[in-house]
Amino acid sequence: MTPDYQLLFLILSCVSALALWQRQRRASSTLSLPPGPFGLPFLGNSLGINARKPQLTFSEWRRHYGDLVYCRVWGYHTLVVNSEKIARDLLETRPSNYSDKVQAESATLLGIGKLTGFIPYSDEWRLHRRLYHQALRQDIVASYHPTQLQMAKRLITALMDTPAEFECHLEMYSASIILSIVHGYDVTSKHDPLLAIVHHGNDVVMKNSTPLIIGLIDAFPWLLKAPKWIPDGGVKETVSAVRASMRDMREAPFDYISQALEDKTAGRSMIVDIYQKWGDKGLPDIVLAALKDAATGAFIAGTDTTFSTLNNFVYAMVLHPDVQKRAQLQLDSVIGNGQLPTFDNRDELPLIDAILRETIRWIPTIPNNLAHGVYNDDVYEGYLIPKGANIIVNTWEILHDKDRYPNPDRFAPDRFLTPDGRLTGDSMTHMVVFGYGRRVCPGRHLAEASVWAAIANLLATFDFEEAKDAEGRSIVQDPEWMWGVSVTDARDA
Ligand code: HEM
Repeated sequence: MTPDYQLLFLILSCVSALALWQRQRRASSTLSLPPGPFGLPFLGNSLGINARKPQLTFSEWRRHYGDLVYCRVWGYHTLVVNSEKIARDLLETRPSNYSDKVQAESATLLGIGKLTGFIPYSDEWRLHRRLYHQALRQDIVASYHPTQLQMAKRLITALMDTPAEFECHLEMYSASIILSIVHGYDVTSKHDPLLAIVHHGNDVVMKNSTPLIIGLIDAFPWLLKAPKWIPDGGVKETVSAVRASMRDMREAPFDYISQALEDKTAGRSMIVDIYQKWGDKGLPDIVLAALKDAATGAFIAGTDTTFSTLNNFVYAMVLHPDVQKRAQLQLDSVIGNGQLPTFDNRDELPLIDAILRETIRWIPTIPNNLAHGVYNDDVYEGYLIPKGANIIVNTWEILHDKDRYPNPDRFAPDRFLTPDGRLTGDSMTHMVVFGYGRRVCPGRHLAEASVWAAIANLLATFDFEEAKDAEGRSIVQDPEWMWGVSVTDARDA
Protein backbone atom coordinates (compact mmCIF):
# COMPACT_ATOMS: atom_id res chain seq x y z
CA MET A 1 0.00 0.00 0.00
CA THR A 2 1.41 3.44 -0.87
CA PRO A 3 1.96 5.96 1.98
CA ASP A 4 -0.90 8.05 0.54
CA TYR A 5 -3.31 5.18 0.82
CA GLN A 6 -2.04 4.27 4.30
CA LEU A 7 -2.68 7.77 5.65
CA LEU A 8 -6.03 7.98 3.97
CA PHE A 9 -6.95 4.60 5.31
CA LEU A 10 -6.06 5.46 8.87
CA ILE A 11 -8.14 8.64 8.86
CA LEU A 12 -11.09 7.03 7.17
CA SER A 13 -10.96 3.97 9.42
CA CYS A 14 -11.45 6.16 12.47
CA VAL A 15 -14.34 8.20 11.14
CA SER A 16 -16.10 5.17 9.73
CA ALA A 17 -15.62 2.96 12.76
CA LEU A 18 -19.23 2.92 13.78
CA ALA A 19 -20.55 2.06 10.34
CA LEU A 20 -18.11 -0.80 9.95
CA TRP A 21 -18.85 -2.14 13.40
CA GLN A 22 -22.50 -2.44 12.39
CA ARG A 23 -21.56 -4.54 9.38
CA GLN A 24 -19.26 -6.78 11.32
CA ARG A 25 -21.75 -7.94 13.93
CA ARG A 26 -22.14 -11.66 13.88
CA ALA A 27 -25.46 -13.30 13.24
CA SER A 28 -27.12 -13.92 16.56
CA SER A 29 -26.63 -17.56 17.28
CA THR A 30 -25.22 -19.86 19.86
CA LEU A 31 -23.31 -21.76 17.18
CA SER A 32 -19.72 -20.82 16.64
CA LEU A 33 -18.19 -19.67 13.40
CA PRO A 34 -15.48 -21.84 11.81
CA PRO A 35 -11.97 -21.22 13.15
CA GLY A 36 -9.88 -18.49 11.62
CA PRO A 37 -7.25 -15.84 12.17
CA PHE A 38 -7.71 -13.05 14.66
CA GLY A 39 -8.88 -9.88 12.90
CA LEU A 40 -8.24 -6.23 13.63
CA PRO A 41 -11.12 -4.12 14.86
CA PHE A 42 -13.03 -2.70 11.90
CA LEU A 43 -10.61 -3.83 9.18
CA GLY A 44 -10.92 -7.50 9.99
CA ASN A 45 -8.26 -9.56 8.23
CA SER A 46 -8.06 -7.42 5.08
CA LEU A 47 -4.52 -6.21 5.67
CA GLY A 48 -3.25 -9.70 6.52
CA ILE A 49 -4.14 -11.11 3.11
CA ASN A 50 -1.50 -11.13 0.39
CA ALA A 51 -3.03 -8.56 -1.99
CA ARG A 52 -1.41 -9.98 -5.14
CA LYS A 53 -1.69 -13.66 -4.30
CA PRO A 54 -4.45 -14.12 -1.70
CA GLN A 55 -4.44 -17.85 -2.43
CA LEU A 56 -1.09 -18.13 -0.65
CA THR A 57 -2.50 -16.58 2.54
CA PHE A 58 -5.56 -18.85 2.32
CA SER A 59 -3.33 -21.92 1.87
CA GLU A 60 -1.29 -20.86 4.89
CA TRP A 61 -4.49 -20.51 6.91
CA ARG A 62 -5.45 -24.05 5.93
CA ARG A 63 -2.37 -25.33 7.74
CA HIS A 64 -3.40 -23.47 10.91
CA TYR A 65 -7.19 -23.65 10.90
CA GLY A 66 -8.23 -26.44 8.52
CA ASP A 67 -10.29 -26.69 5.35
CA LEU A 68 -12.98 -24.18 6.34
CA VAL A 69 -11.67 -20.87 7.62
CA TYR A 70 -13.61 -17.86 8.86
CA CYS A 71 -12.25 -14.35 8.41
CA ARG A 72 -13.52 -10.85 7.79
CA VAL A 73 -12.61 -8.93 4.65
CA TRP A 74 -13.51 -5.24 4.54
CA GLY A 75 -16.23 -5.85 7.10
CA TYR A 76 -17.79 -8.82 5.30
CA HIS A 77 -18.14 -12.27 6.85
CA THR A 78 -15.95 -14.46 4.64
CA LEU A 79 -15.51 -18.22 4.55
CA VAL A 80 -12.45 -19.58 2.80
CA VAL A 81 -12.93 -23.13 1.53
CA ASN A 82 -9.75 -25.11 1.02
CA SER A 83 -11.21 -28.47 0.02
CA GLU A 84 -13.15 -29.68 -2.98
CA LYS A 85 -15.47 -31.74 -0.77
CA ILE A 86 -16.64 -28.74 1.26
CA ALA A 87 -16.95 -26.62 -1.89
CA ARG A 88 -19.23 -29.23 -3.44
CA ASP A 89 -21.15 -29.88 -0.19
CA LEU A 90 -22.02 -26.22 0.08
CA LEU A 91 -22.15 -24.81 -3.44
CA GLU A 92 -23.51 -27.84 -5.28
CA THR A 93 -25.50 -29.82 -2.72
CA ARG A 94 -27.24 -26.73 -1.35
CA PRO A 95 -27.27 -24.50 -4.45
CA SER A 96 -30.28 -22.36 -3.57
CA ASN A 97 -28.49 -21.13 -0.47
CA TYR A 98 -25.08 -20.63 -2.06
CA SER A 99 -25.65 -19.08 -5.48
CA ASP A 100 -26.20 -15.52 -4.35
CA LYS A 101 -23.83 -12.55 -4.54
CA VAL A 102 -23.22 -10.15 -1.74
CA GLN A 103 -24.19 -6.84 -3.28
CA ALA A 104 -21.18 -4.66 -2.88
CA GLU A 105 -21.78 -0.98 -3.40
CA SER A 106 -18.43 -0.81 -5.17
CA ALA A 107 -19.72 -2.96 -8.05
CA THR A 108 -22.60 -0.56 -8.72
CA LEU A 109 -20.43 2.52 -8.33
CA LEU A 110 -17.77 1.12 -10.66
CA GLY A 111 -20.46 0.26 -13.21
CA ILE A 112 -19.63 -3.47 -13.13
CA GLY A 113 -22.64 -4.51 -11.04
CA LYS A 114 -24.56 -5.78 -14.08
CA LEU A 115 -21.88 -8.24 -15.12
CA THR A 116 -23.33 -11.72 -14.57
CA GLY A 117 -20.76 -12.71 -11.97
CA PHE A 118 -21.86 -9.84 -9.71
CA ILE A 119 -25.64 -10.15 -10.08
CA PRO A 120 -27.48 -11.62 -7.06
CA TYR A 121 -29.48 -14.83 -7.38
CA SER A 122 -32.55 -13.33 -9.08
CA ASP A 123 -34.70 -13.32 -12.22
CA GLU A 124 -32.24 -10.94 -13.83
CA TRP A 125 -29.38 -13.39 -13.26
CA ARG A 126 -31.54 -16.30 -14.53
CA LEU A 127 -32.21 -14.33 -17.72
CA HIS A 128 -28.46 -13.89 -18.25
CA ARG A 129 -27.91 -17.62 -17.75
CA ARG A 130 -30.67 -18.43 -20.28
CA LEU A 131 -29.00 -16.19 -22.87
CA TYR A 132 -25.66 -17.93 -22.35
CA HIS A 133 -27.29 -21.34 -22.36
CA GLN A 134 -28.77 -20.73 -25.80
CA ALA A 135 -25.37 -19.90 -27.27
CA LEU A 136 -22.72 -21.61 -25.18
CA ARG A 137 -24.05 -24.98 -24.09
CA GLN A 138 -21.99 -28.03 -24.93
CA ASP A 139 -23.88 -29.28 -28.02
CA ILE A 140 -23.94 -25.79 -29.61
CA VAL A 141 -20.26 -25.11 -28.93
CA ALA A 142 -19.26 -27.88 -31.34
CA SER A 143 -20.70 -25.73 -34.15
CA TYR A 144 -18.07 -23.06 -33.37
CA HIS A 145 -15.14 -25.40 -33.98
CA PRO A 146 -14.58 -24.15 -37.57
CA THR A 147 -14.37 -20.56 -36.24
CA GLN A 148 -11.90 -21.58 -33.55
CA LEU A 149 -9.73 -23.43 -36.06
CA GLN A 150 -9.83 -20.47 -38.43
CA MET A 151 -8.70 -18.17 -35.61
CA ALA A 152 -5.96 -20.65 -34.72
CA LYS A 153 -4.67 -20.42 -38.32
CA ARG A 154 -4.64 -16.63 -38.07
CA LEU A 155 -2.76 -16.97 -34.80
CA ILE A 156 -0.13 -19.10 -36.52
CA THR A 157 0.28 -16.55 -39.32
CA ALA A 158 0.62 -13.68 -36.85
CA LEU A 159 3.19 -15.59 -34.81
CA MET A 160 5.21 -16.39 -37.91
CA ASP A 161 5.33 -12.69 -38.78
CA THR A 162 6.15 -11.33 -35.33
CA PRO A 163 6.96 -14.08 -32.83
CA ALA A 164 8.20 -11.64 -30.20
CA GLU A 165 4.66 -10.22 -29.96
CA PHE A 166 3.28 -13.59 -28.89
CA GLU A 167 1.34 -12.20 -25.94
CA CYS A 168 -0.44 -9.69 -28.16
CA HIS A 169 -1.32 -12.46 -30.66
CA LEU A 170 -2.64 -14.77 -27.95
CA GLU A 171 -4.76 -11.96 -26.59
CA MET A 172 -6.11 -11.18 -30.04
CA TYR A 173 -6.92 -14.88 -30.60
CA SER A 174 -8.91 -15.01 -27.34
CA ALA A 175 -10.73 -11.73 -27.99
CA SER A 176 -11.51 -12.55 -31.65
CA ILE A 177 -13.24 -15.80 -30.72
CA ILE A 178 -15.56 -14.06 -28.26
CA LEU A 179 -16.24 -11.17 -30.63
CA SER A 180 -17.07 -13.61 -33.41
CA ILE A 181 -19.22 -16.07 -31.46
CA VAL A 182 -20.96 -13.66 -29.11
CA HIS A 183 -21.13 -10.52 -31.27
CA GLY A 184 -20.78 -11.85 -34.83
CA TYR A 185 -17.86 -9.51 -35.47
CA ASP A 186 -14.83 -10.61 -37.45
CA VAL A 187 -11.54 -9.12 -36.24
CA THR A 188 -9.02 -9.29 -39.06
CA SER A 189 -6.32 -6.97 -37.80
CA LYS A 190 -4.80 -6.03 -34.49
CA HIS A 191 -5.65 -2.41 -35.39
CA ASP A 192 -9.37 -3.17 -35.69
CA PRO A 193 -11.33 -0.21 -34.20
CA LEU A 194 -13.90 -2.26 -32.28
CA LEU A 195 -11.20 -4.55 -30.91
CA ALA A 196 -9.33 -1.44 -29.75
CA ILE A 197 -12.37 -0.15 -27.85
CA VAL A 198 -13.21 -3.39 -26.06
CA HIS A 199 -9.58 -4.26 -25.48
CA HIS A 200 -8.84 -0.89 -23.93
CA GLY A 201 -12.03 -1.06 -21.87
CA ASN A 202 -11.18 -4.53 -20.60
CA ASP A 203 -7.73 -3.36 -19.64
CA VAL A 204 -9.04 -0.38 -17.67
CA VAL A 205 -11.65 -2.51 -15.88
CA MET A 206 -9.19 -5.32 -15.02
CA LYS A 207 -6.39 -3.10 -13.81
CA ASN A 208 -8.58 -0.84 -11.72
CA SER A 209 -11.10 -3.19 -10.17
CA THR A 210 -8.49 -4.25 -7.64
CA PRO A 211 -9.27 -5.55 -4.14
CA LEU A 212 -7.81 -2.32 -2.73
CA ILE A 213 -10.06 -0.01 -4.78
CA ILE A 214 -13.09 -2.24 -4.19
CA GLY A 215 -12.35 -2.37 -0.46
CA LEU A 216 -11.90 1.39 -0.25
CA ILE A 217 -15.15 2.14 -2.06
CA ASP A 218 -17.12 -0.42 -0.06
CA ALA A 219 -15.81 0.81 3.26
CA PHE A 220 -16.12 4.51 2.43
CA PRO A 221 -18.64 5.00 -0.43
CA TRP A 222 -19.14 8.64 0.59
CA LEU A 223 -15.55 9.24 -0.54
CA LEU A 224 -16.85 9.53 -4.10
CA LYS A 225 -19.05 12.47 -3.13
CA ALA A 226 -16.47 14.14 -0.90
CA PRO A 227 -15.23 17.62 -1.81
CA LYS A 228 -12.10 17.83 -3.92
CA TRP A 229 -9.90 18.99 -1.01
CA ILE A 230 -10.26 15.64 0.78
CA PRO A 231 -7.44 13.44 -0.54
CA ASP A 232 -8.90 10.30 -2.10
CA GLY A 233 -5.78 8.67 -3.52
CA GLY A 234 -7.23 8.95 -7.05
CA VAL A 235 -10.29 6.83 -6.28
CA LYS A 236 -12.79 9.22 -7.95
CA GLU A 237 -10.72 9.31 -11.11
CA THR A 238 -10.41 5.54 -11.18
CA VAL A 239 -14.13 5.06 -10.74
CA SER A 240 -15.01 7.39 -13.59
CA ALA A 241 -12.44 5.72 -15.89
CA VAL A 242 -13.92 2.27 -15.17
CA ARG A 243 -17.48 3.52 -15.64
CA ALA A 244 -16.60 5.12 -19.00
CA SER A 245 -14.87 1.94 -20.18
CA MET A 246 -17.81 -0.20 -19.18
CA ARG A 247 -20.14 2.10 -21.12
CA ASP A 248 -17.99 1.89 -24.24
CA MET A 249 -17.63 -1.88 -24.04
CA ARG A 250 -21.37 -2.30 -23.62
CA GLU A 251 -22.51 0.05 -26.37
CA ALA A 252 -19.86 -0.01 -29.13
CA PRO A 253 -20.43 -3.63 -30.26
CA PHE A 254 -24.18 -3.00 -30.38
CA ASP A 255 -23.76 0.00 -32.63
CA TYR A 256 -21.97 -2.32 -35.03
CA ILE A 257 -24.56 -5.10 -34.71
CA SER A 258 -27.52 -2.73 -35.23
CA GLN A 259 -25.90 -1.47 -38.40
CA ALA A 260 -25.13 -5.00 -39.62
CA LEU A 261 -28.72 -6.09 -38.93
CA GLU A 262 -30.02 -3.11 -40.84
CA ASP A 263 -27.68 -3.84 -43.76
CA LYS A 264 -28.56 -7.53 -43.56
CA THR A 265 -24.87 -8.41 -43.32
CA ALA A 266 -24.98 -9.80 -39.77
CA GLY A 267 -23.57 -13.31 -39.48
CA ARG A 268 -24.65 -15.88 -36.92
CA SER A 269 -23.81 -15.08 -33.29
CA MET A 270 -25.27 -15.23 -29.79
CA ILE A 271 -26.66 -11.72 -30.14
CA VAL A 272 -27.98 -12.04 -33.68
CA ASP A 273 -29.66 -15.38 -32.88
CA ILE A 274 -31.51 -13.76 -30.01
CA TYR A 275 -32.54 -10.76 -32.12
CA GLN A 276 -33.84 -13.14 -34.77
CA LYS A 277 -35.72 -15.20 -32.24
CA TRP A 278 -37.80 -12.18 -31.31
CA GLY A 279 -38.31 -11.32 -35.00
CA ASP A 280 -40.60 -8.44 -35.89
CA LYS A 281 -41.85 -8.15 -32.31
CA GLY A 282 -38.46 -6.71 -31.42
CA LEU A 283 -36.47 -7.31 -28.25
CA PRO A 284 -38.18 -6.16 -25.05
CA ASP A 285 -36.08 -3.56 -23.23
CA ILE A 286 -35.37 -5.92 -20.37
CA VAL A 287 -33.97 -8.58 -22.72
CA LEU A 288 -31.95 -6.02 -24.68
CA ALA A 289 -30.38 -4.69 -21.48
CA ALA A 290 -29.58 -8.22 -20.28
CA LEU A 291 -28.13 -9.11 -23.69
CA LYS A 292 -25.82 -6.09 -23.65
CA ASP A 293 -24.67 -6.87 -20.12
CA ALA A 294 -24.25 -10.59 -20.82
CA ALA A 295 -22.24 -9.89 -23.98
CA THR A 296 -19.96 -7.46 -22.12
CA GLY A 297 -19.65 -10.02 -19.33
CA ALA A 298 -18.68 -12.75 -21.78
CA PHE A 299 -15.93 -10.56 -23.19
CA ILE A 300 -14.56 -9.62 -19.78
CA ALA A 301 -14.90 -13.11 -18.29
CA GLY A 302 -13.78 -14.98 -21.38
CA THR A 303 -10.94 -13.04 -22.97
CA ASP A 304 -8.42 -12.57 -20.21
CA THR A 305 -8.94 -16.06 -18.79
CA THR A 306 -8.41 -17.78 -22.14
CA PHE A 307 -5.42 -15.56 -22.92
CA SER A 308 -3.80 -16.18 -19.51
CA THR A 309 -4.21 -19.93 -19.90
CA LEU A 310 -2.49 -19.82 -23.29
CA ASN A 311 0.23 -17.58 -21.94
CA ASN A 312 0.87 -20.08 -19.14
CA PHE A 313 0.96 -22.86 -21.73
CA VAL A 314 3.69 -21.05 -23.68
CA TYR A 315 5.80 -20.66 -20.52
CA ALA A 316 5.24 -24.31 -19.66
CA MET A 317 6.50 -25.35 -23.10
CA VAL A 318 9.55 -23.07 -22.88
CA LEU A 319 10.41 -24.53 -19.49
CA HIS A 320 9.72 -28.14 -20.54
CA PRO A 321 11.08 -28.83 -24.03
CA ASP A 322 10.86 -32.58 -23.35
CA VAL A 323 7.06 -32.39 -23.01
CA GLN A 324 6.87 -30.22 -26.11
CA LYS A 325 8.89 -32.74 -28.15
CA ARG A 326 6.71 -35.66 -27.04
CA ALA A 327 3.53 -33.78 -27.96
CA GLN A 328 4.95 -32.95 -31.39
CA LEU A 329 5.86 -36.58 -31.99
CA GLN A 330 2.31 -37.59 -31.12
CA LEU A 331 0.93 -34.94 -33.48
CA ASP A 332 3.24 -36.12 -36.27
CA SER A 333 2.24 -39.72 -35.81
CA VAL A 334 -1.50 -38.96 -35.81
CA ILE A 335 -1.88 -36.26 -38.45
CA GLY A 336 1.43 -36.34 -40.28
CA ASN A 337 4.13 -33.73 -40.48
CA GLY A 338 3.00 -30.44 -42.06
CA GLN A 339 -0.72 -30.97 -41.34
CA LEU A 340 -2.80 -29.03 -38.85
CA PRO A 341 -4.91 -30.86 -36.26
CA THR A 342 -8.69 -30.54 -36.12
CA PHE A 343 -11.18 -31.55 -33.46
CA ASP A 344 -11.62 -34.88 -35.31
CA ASN A 345 -8.10 -35.79 -34.17
CA ARG A 346 -8.68 -34.92 -30.53
CA ASP A 347 -9.34 -38.44 -29.21
CA GLU A 348 -6.09 -39.66 -30.73
CA LEU A 349 -4.06 -36.90 -29.08
CA PRO A 350 -4.33 -37.59 -25.34
CA LEU A 351 -1.05 -35.85 -24.56
CA ILE A 352 -2.45 -32.55 -25.87
CA ASP A 353 -5.39 -32.86 -23.50
CA ALA A 354 -3.08 -33.85 -20.65
CA ILE A 355 -1.02 -30.70 -21.34
CA LEU A 356 -4.20 -28.61 -21.34
CA ARG A 357 -5.36 -30.08 -18.01
CA GLU A 358 -1.95 -29.70 -16.44
CA THR A 359 -1.67 -26.08 -17.62
CA ILE A 360 -4.90 -25.14 -15.88
CA ARG A 361 -4.02 -27.20 -12.79
CA TRP A 362 -0.46 -25.84 -12.52
CA ILE A 363 -1.46 -22.17 -12.74
CA PRO A 364 -5.27 -21.87 -12.51
CA THR A 365 -6.25 -18.59 -14.10
CA ILE A 366 -8.82 -17.86 -11.40
CA PRO A 367 -7.00 -19.08 -8.30
CA ASN A 368 -9.75 -18.12 -5.85
CA ASN A 369 -12.99 -18.50 -7.75
CA LEU A 370 -15.59 -15.70 -7.63
CA ALA A 371 -17.18 -15.34 -4.23
CA HIS A 372 -20.62 -16.93 -3.79
CA GLY A 373 -22.99 -15.22 -1.35
CA VAL A 374 -24.90 -17.05 1.39
CA TYR A 375 -28.65 -16.48 1.18
CA ASN A 376 -29.64 -17.65 4.67
CA ASP A 377 -27.91 -18.75 7.87
CA ASP A 378 -26.81 -22.36 7.50
CA VAL A 379 -25.03 -24.97 9.60
CA TYR A 380 -22.16 -27.07 8.26
CA GLU A 381 -20.35 -29.66 10.38
CA GLY A 382 -21.62 -27.89 13.50
CA TYR A 383 -20.42 -24.44 12.42
CA LEU A 384 -22.56 -21.44 11.62
CA ILE A 385 -22.35 -20.17 8.03
CA PRO A 386 -23.86 -16.72 8.41
CA LYS A 387 -26.33 -15.20 5.99
CA GLY A 388 -24.68 -12.60 3.78
CA ALA A 389 -21.23 -14.19 4.01
CA ASN A 390 -18.95 -14.52 1.01
CA ILE A 391 -17.72 -18.02 0.20
CA ILE A 392 -14.31 -18.02 -1.48
CA VAL A 393 -13.02 -21.33 -2.80
CA ASN A 394 -9.24 -21.59 -2.86
CA THR A 395 -8.95 -23.37 -6.20
CA TRP A 396 -5.19 -22.98 -6.04
CA GLU A 397 -4.93 -25.05 -2.87
CA ILE A 398 -7.27 -27.74 -4.19
CA LEU A 399 -5.19 -28.11 -7.35
CA HIS A 400 -1.90 -28.04 -5.40
CA ASP A 401 -2.93 -30.60 -2.82
CA LYS A 402 0.10 -32.89 -2.66
CA ASP A 403 -1.95 -35.92 -1.68
CA ARG A 404 -3.85 -35.71 -4.93
CA TYR A 405 -1.13 -34.18 -7.09
CA PRO A 406 2.28 -35.26 -5.78
CA ASN A 407 4.96 -32.63 -6.28
CA PRO A 408 2.21 -30.15 -7.18
CA ASP A 409 4.40 -27.23 -8.27
CA ARG A 410 5.96 -29.33 -11.00
CA PHE A 411 4.46 -29.12 -14.50
CA ALA A 412 3.84 -32.80 -15.24
CA PRO A 413 1.09 -33.62 -17.77
CA ASP A 414 1.72 -37.34 -17.26
CA ARG A 415 -0.25 -37.17 -14.04
CA PHE A 416 -3.32 -37.08 -16.32
CA LEU A 417 -2.23 -40.12 -18.36
CA THR A 418 -2.46 -43.82 -17.60
CA PRO A 419 0.73 -45.91 -18.00
CA ASP A 420 -0.41 -46.86 -21.53
CA GLY A 421 -0.80 -43.19 -22.50
CA ARG A 422 -4.57 -42.76 -22.25
CA LEU A 423 -6.29 -39.93 -20.40
CA THR A 424 -7.16 -40.65 -16.77
CA GLY A 425 -10.72 -40.13 -15.55
CA ASP A 426 -9.59 -37.08 -13.58
CA SER A 427 -11.77 -34.63 -15.41
CA MET A 428 -12.15 -32.82 -12.10
CA THR A 429 -9.62 -30.23 -13.18
CA HIS A 430 -12.06 -28.90 -15.70
CA MET A 431 -14.82 -28.65 -13.18
CA VAL A 432 -12.86 -27.07 -10.34
CA VAL A 433 -11.28 -24.32 -12.40
CA PHE A 434 -14.65 -23.40 -13.83
CA GLY A 435 -16.45 -23.09 -10.51
CA TYR A 436 -19.42 -24.75 -8.90
CA GLY A 437 -23.15 -25.32 -8.85
CA ARG A 438 -25.53 -22.91 -10.53
CA ARG A 439 -22.80 -20.31 -10.88
CA VAL A 440 -20.49 -22.62 -12.83
CA CYS A 441 -18.80 -20.83 -15.72
CA PRO A 442 -21.25 -20.77 -18.68
CA GLY A 443 -18.34 -20.32 -21.12
CA ARG A 444 -16.43 -23.41 -20.00
CA HIS A 445 -17.12 -25.54 -23.10
CA LEU A 446 -16.19 -22.70 -25.41
CA ALA A 447 -13.07 -21.86 -23.41
CA GLU A 448 -11.86 -25.42 -23.25
CA ALA A 449 -12.26 -25.85 -27.04
CA SER A 450 -10.54 -22.50 -27.74
CA VAL A 451 -7.57 -23.45 -25.60
CA TRP A 452 -7.36 -26.92 -27.17
CA ALA A 453 -7.48 -25.54 -30.74
CA ALA A 454 -4.67 -23.10 -29.99
CA ILE A 455 -2.46 -25.57 -28.09
CA ALA A 456 -2.79 -28.32 -30.70
CA ASN A 457 -2.17 -25.98 -33.64
CA LEU A 458 0.73 -24.15 -32.01
CA LEU A 459 2.49 -27.37 -31.08
CA ALA A 460 2.02 -28.67 -34.62
CA THR A 461 3.68 -25.56 -36.02
CA PHE A 462 6.21 -24.06 -33.61
CA ASP A 463 9.01 -24.90 -31.24
CA PHE A 464 8.82 -22.72 -28.15
CA GLU A 465 12.15 -21.83 -26.65
CA GLU A 466 13.82 -19.16 -24.57
CA ALA A 467 14.52 -15.89 -26.35
CA LYS A 468 18.20 -14.91 -26.31
CA ASP A 469 19.81 -11.49 -25.97
CA ALA A 470 22.59 -10.20 -28.27
CA GLU A 471 25.16 -12.24 -26.32
CA GLY A 472 23.10 -15.39 -26.65
CA ARG A 473 21.98 -15.38 -23.00
CA SER A 474 18.49 -16.50 -22.13
CA ILE A 475 16.12 -13.60 -21.42
CA VAL A 476 13.30 -15.69 -19.99
CA GLN A 477 13.63 -15.91 -16.25
CA ASP A 478 11.37 -17.77 -13.89
CA PRO A 479 8.01 -16.23 -14.69
CA GLU A 480 6.37 -14.44 -11.80
CA TRP A 481 2.61 -14.85 -11.72
CA MET A 482 0.22 -12.22 -10.55
CA TRP A 483 -3.34 -12.33 -9.41
CA GLY A 484 -5.97 -10.08 -10.94
CA VAL A 485 -9.30 -11.39 -12.03
CA SER A 486 -7.07 -14.00 -13.60
CA VAL A 487 -3.44 -14.93 -13.41
CA THR A 488 -1.07 -13.55 -15.97
CA ASP A 489 2.54 -12.71 -16.34
CA ALA A 490 3.62 -9.98 -13.94
CA ARG A 491 5.25 -8.08 -16.80
CA ASP A 492 1.75 -7.20 -18.04
CA ALA A 493 0.96 -5.38 -14.84
C1 HEM B 1 -10.01 -20.58 -19.39
C2 HEM B 1 -11.08 -19.82 -19.43
C3 HEM B 1 -12.07 -19.61 -18.31
C4 HEM B 1 -11.97 -19.91 -16.98
C5 HEM B 1 -10.82 -20.56 -16.24
C6 HEM B 1 -13.20 -19.49 -16.35
C7 HEM B 1 -13.50 -19.66 -15.01
C8 HEM B 1 -14.63 -19.17 -14.40
C9 HEM B 1 -14.91 -19.29 -12.98
C10 HEM B 1 -14.03 -19.96 -11.95
C11 HEM B 1 -16.08 -18.68 -12.76
C12 HEM B 1 -16.78 -18.54 -11.40
C13 HEM B 1 -17.70 -19.72 -11.18
C14 HEM B 1 -18.35 -19.72 -9.82
O1 HEM B 1 -18.76 -18.65 -9.35
O2 HEM B 1 -18.46 -20.80 -9.21
C15 HEM B 1 -16.56 -18.16 -14.01
C16 HEM B 1 -17.73 -17.45 -14.17
C17 HEM B 1 -18.15 -16.94 -15.36
N1 HEM B 1 -17.57 -17.14 -16.60
FE1 HEM B 1 -15.87 -18.15 -16.98
N2 HEM B 1 -14.01 -18.94 -17.30
C18 HEM B 1 -13.37 -19.00 -18.51
C19 HEM B 1 -13.86 -18.59 -19.73
C20 HEM B 1 -15.10 -18.02 -19.93
C21 HEM B 1 -15.67 -17.70 -21.21
C22 HEM B 1 -15.02 -18.00 -22.57
C23 HEM B 1 -16.87 -17.09 -20.97
C24 HEM B 1 -17.92 -16.56 -21.94
C25 HEM B 1 -17.88 -16.63 -23.21
C26 HEM B 1 -17.05 -17.03 -19.54
C27 HEM B 1 -18.12 -16.45 -18.90
C28 HEM B 1 -18.33 -16.48 -17.54
C29 HEM B 1 -19.45 -15.82 -16.88
C30 HEM B 1 -20.52 -14.97 -17.56
C31 HEM B 1 -19.34 -16.12 -15.51
C32 HEM B 1 -20.27 -15.67 -14.39
C33 HEM B 1 -21.30 -16.79 -14.11
C34 HEM B 1 -22.30 -16.49 -13.01
O3 HEM B 1 -21.97 -15.82 -12.04
O4 HEM B 1 -23.42 -17.00 -13.13
N3 HEM B 1 -15.96 -17.62 -18.95
N4 HEM B 1 -15.66 -18.49 -15.01
